Amino acid sequence: MPNAYISGTGFFVPPRRVTNDDLKTQYGLETTHDWIVQRTGIEERRYADEGVGSADLGLAAAERAIAAAGIAKTDLDMIVFATLSPEHSFPGSGVYLQQKLGLCDGPNAKFVPALDVRNQCSGFLYALGTAASMVQSGACKHVLVVGAEVHSAALDLSTRGRSVASLFGDGAGAVIVSATDEDRGIRTWKLGADGRFADVLTQRIWDIRKRPFIPANAEGVGQVAPEMMWAQMDGKLVFKNAVERMMTVLMEACMAHGISGQEIDLFLFHQANLRINQFIQERLGIPDEKVLHNIQRYGNTTAATLPILLAEAVESGRLKRGTKVALCSFGSGFTWGAAIVDW
Ligand code: ACO
Repeated sequence: MPNAYISGTGFFVPPRRVTNDDLKTQYGLETTHDWIVQRTGIEERRYADEGVGSADLGLAAAERAIAAAGIAKTDLDMIVFATLSPEHSFPGSGVYLQQKLGLCDGPNAKFVPALDVRNQCSGFLYALGTAASMVQSGACKHVLVVGAEVHSAALDLSTRGRSVASLFGDGAGAVIVSATDEDRGIRTWKLGADGRFADVLTQRIWDIRKRPFIPANAEGVGQVAPEMMWAQMDGKLVFKNAVERMMTVLMEACMAHGISGQEIDLFLFHQANLRINQFIQERLGIPDEKVLHNIQRYGNTTAATLPILLAEAVESGRLKRGTKVALCSFGSGFTWGAAIVDW
């Protein structure tokens, strides 16, 4: 059985910076820089322009990851796309990315499977586990895994929505998961979910059980109430569960790999809230030099946080051959995951 390793990483964030003060001055949210920084650590985030979708951001990240892996686009055997902000309800972003990569026409045509993963903040680790399994089984040699989000279009950027809107930003990260006979790679991964909390963090948009699924006016134009249109969250319950589940799944992954937490060189946590990660770090006694954060600059980019962190860690030289890295996330569902990778 081949090992599955990450042969290339890439990320892309849109150029437009939106600071906490911009939320107040440009969008009219009643908030302050200090309120947001004290509770979340976020100083600014990026917003994509109108006309840009998750597959567009994913494309830029994917092209960088493909180049870093030293492969051609036509070497890809599968695309796994994690997002909670696909262009449309269906089809998913994976097929749009396949088109944008130029894999659907001309001499490069390669109709590889494109799988969309809908596990929100844990989406990247669910996608990574899937890609690793495809590679280890021998079904694929190179799998493109993308986490990409355009949140800015679907945030309630008013004071009513400030507790959610101030947290999220746009961005994309990508990795190539490849087969190798070398003694390295994705050693273990653990995933979990608890559907009892499915309604605690949701963006419903519609209710398919209703007739019609979106109430419509006499002209047939759909009307979506604010509580359906925008994400709803019980922030304190999310915080408490995130801390507990991330610590547990991290320890489970270490146990499955037969190592202690001290043997890990670098911890990359999902960037939902700096305070969540600092709490975990303190409880597990992880020194500052073993943890990287970028939430200050990008906010919560959901499925994209971990691949962006990975790509930045490679770029800065913090992640290199032989580094033992732990990845950990938690999000809506609730869902969570952890992975241990020998780089
Ligand atoms: N600026 C100013 N005031 C605000 C803001 C804001 N951006 N947002 C909320 N407030 C106000 C609220 O309206 C409320 O005012 P009120 O008392 O007059 O009603 C007050 O601040 C307190 O609101 P809470 O929601 O109780 O604030 P809390 O201390 O819980 O902090 C926060 C909110 C930061 C969201 C926190 O609960 C949290 O971080 N939870 C974790 C959730 C998370 O990270 N979710 C990300 C998505 S899930 C994931 O990726 C894991």
